[in-house]
Amino acid sequence: MRAALSFLGLLCLVAGSLAQSGPEIASYFKTDLSPASAVYLPSESLFTQETTQRWNAFSSPSYAVSVKPASDEDVQKIIHYAFMHNISFLATGGGHGYSATLGTVQSGIEMDLGHFNNYSINAEANTITVGGSIHFRNITGPLYAAGKEWRATLGGGVGPYGGLHGLQIDSLQSVRMVTGAGNLITVSATQHPDLFWVMRGAGFNFGVVTSATYQVYPYTNNGQAMNADFRFNASANASLYEFARSYTGKQPDAFSIDIAIAYNENFGGTYLFANFIYAGPLSEGLSLIQPILALKPFQQNITMIPWSLIETTSKFGTDAAACIKGNYHSVWGLNLYQIDVPTLSSAVEYMDAMFKANKGFRESFLAIDMYATRVTQSVPDEETAYPYRSAVARFLLDVGFIDPSLSTNASNVGRGARALFIPTSGASTKNIEVYVNYGHGDEGPLGWYSERKMPRLTELKKRYDPNGLFSHYNAIRRTYNVPKV
Ligand SMILES: Cc1cc2nc3c(=O)[nH]c(=O)nc-3n(C[C@H](O)[C@H](O)[C@H](O)COP(=O)(O)OP(=O)(O)OC[C@H]3O[C@@H](n4cnc5c(N)ncnc54)[C@H](O)[C@@H]3O)c2cc1C
Ligand SMILES: *[C@@H]1O[C@H](CO)[C@@H](O)[C@H](O)[C@H]1NC(C)=O
Ligand SMILES: *[C@@H]1O[C@H](CO)[C@@H](O)[C@H](O)[C@H]1NC(C)=O
Ligand SMILES: *[C@@H]1O[C@H](CO)[C@@H](O)[C@H](O)[C@H]1NC(C)=O
Ligand SMILES: *[C@@H]1O[C@H](CO)[C@@H](O)[C@H](O)[C@H]1NC(C)=O
Ligand SMILES: *[C@@H]1O[C@H](CO)[C@@H](O)[C@H](O)[C@H]1NC(C)=O
Ligand SMILES: *[C@@H]1O[C@H](CO)[C@@H](O)[C@H](O)[C@H]1NC(C)=O
Ligand SMILES: *[C@@H]1O[C@H](CO)[C@@H](O)[C@H](O)[C@H]1NC(C)=O
Repeated sequence: MRAALSFLGLLCLVAGSLAQSGPEIASYFKTDLSPASAVYLPSESLFTQETTQRWNAFSSPSYAVSVKPASDEDVQKIIHYAFMHNISFLATGGGHGYSATLGTVQSGIEMDLGHFNNYSINAEANTITVGGSIHFRNITGPLYAAGKEWRATLGGGVGPYGGLHGLQIDSLQSVRMVTGAGNLITVSATQHPDLFWVMRGAGFNFGVVTSATYQVYPYTNNGQAMNADFRFNASANASLYEFARSYTGKQPDAFSIDIAIAYNENFGGTYLFANFIYAGPLSEGLSLIQPILALKPFQQNITMIPWSLIETTSKFGTDAAACIKGNYHSVWGLNLYQIDVPTLSSAVEYMDAMFKANKGFRESFLAIDMYATRVTQSVPDEETAYPYRSAVARFLLDVGFIDPSLSTNASNVGRGARALFIPTSGASTKNIEVYVNYGHGDEGPLGWYSERKMPRLTELKKRYDPNGLFSHYNAIRRTYNVPKV
């Protein structure tokens, strides 16, 4: 493959001629991109029908035009055009990113990667190569059929099988990407290793990934996992959180814990929701959750399911609802390096008071997810840009709402809850340390990437994205004025 159209040589030119209108941009792309590409203006109904919509309507980007490139060269041309005309752009993969920083793109160019959705599995080599916008759901079935397991994302990637296989970025073998400097390159441990370091933890700051190759794994326990879902009275909170705490530092690799505070009138208001997954035999799973069964859940469902169905069926099937797009979400996260039961009990009180006072926020939930860290921590910290291998769990609050006039209240609720967790999170710095994909957007680069990693990230940013074109999602080099609402 040729490394076409580098505009590295143009860097000294002052970018930006006259501001371009949406139709002008559209007519340029319609003639300049490959025949299979597509261009939509907001005035067309296909603009929403044919492009990936965002999960979060809160502080979301707006576009003058949406472009669907069909080749790596199209991606290069779009980046080049946006640079020359000084227009912000954003690549869209699944549209699940929710950071409030995304709102910094207004009247920009959307680069919808929807055409980059093919994949190929190499069962013998235990690898999968996926297009830059692949949906996890498109490949779980085929992977399962091939006797494999896997999932992935750029910023880190945490999930139930992370206990067995580490962070999702730890399975990355190579990427094909267009950098902010316009180069189409392959990046791996041996090709541009400095960029490979970056792509595992801070990738969205450096370019657009058109395809990526990951290691996959022969499936565990014949592909079957115990999925155990429970609903508890809020009065069980301390026992439930104590159960989670007791696994700190000794969580079996195949065992994951997820506990959330939620609200439902039918369940008497504020209640607790718990999901445990064990990628192993049922008898072993049941013995791990024995103390939970003694806490008298008012609902339970314990089944063995194929790993490929976890996302659609676990948590009583509510994860499918969590994927509904277009509502407002003020989302707040924080790394936890210890489980502090009194803090979690205060969070139950906090949420209970909040649910009672705000009818508009009753779809919200406050969760901790806890995945075993042995494999994640077996990768040395300096090997990847991802900075937080020692976190044992994460706090995540999604204040969900329909009425945008509640935005300020939602943010107050979220900021207040995070403040509750900061003093006992066990973080070693004063930064708001958060897994980048869980970030609200106000934590800043030191919170997303750590003081340790920032010098190298800043240096590489100058080399691979010298004009800061990729600066709209929890970016390394940018001063944000994230809306206080
Ligand atoms: C309901 C829900 C559940 C989630 N669950 C988990 C979870 O279990 N574990 C976890 O780790 N995270 C989870 N997340 C967070 C998720 O990992 C991040 O939101 C991730 O960024 C989503 O990827 P996306 O392709 O949908 O991102 P998008 O919203 O499309 O993009 C996010 C950022 O990445 C950039 N980007 C997208 N595609 C590319 C590409 N091909 N090349 C370069 N840059 C690109 C975009 O430009 C943007 O800056 C969850 C989020 C939601 C909303
Ligand atoms: C590019 O656009 C930004 C705002 O969108 C503006 O602040 C900046 O001055 C512009 N740069 C040039 C060189 O026109
Ligand atoms: C996807 O399709 C393109 C065009 O046919 C091809 O070049 C690329 O290798 C394919 N990618 C994968 C992961 O199969
Ligand atoms: C991939 O998954 C998305 C989201 O679930 C779906 O809309 C799309 O139709 C799927 N594409 C294919 C090719 O299966
Ligand atoms: C939950 O606990 C509260 C008080 O702690 C009690 O009033 C209520 O009846 C309990 N609900 C259930 C379903 O057990
Ligand atoms: C949470 O647990 C604590 C400790 O057992 C208890 O005092 C408190 O009432 C519980 N909270 C709720 C809302 O039930
Ligand atoms: C229990 O789990 C199984 C398998 O995931 C599912 O088919 C069933 O609908 C669930 N039952 C309830 C009540 O959620
Ligand atoms: C929103 O916040 C304001 C100020 O704190 C408060 O007065 C108001 O009651 C809140 N509204 C709702 C719906 O919670």
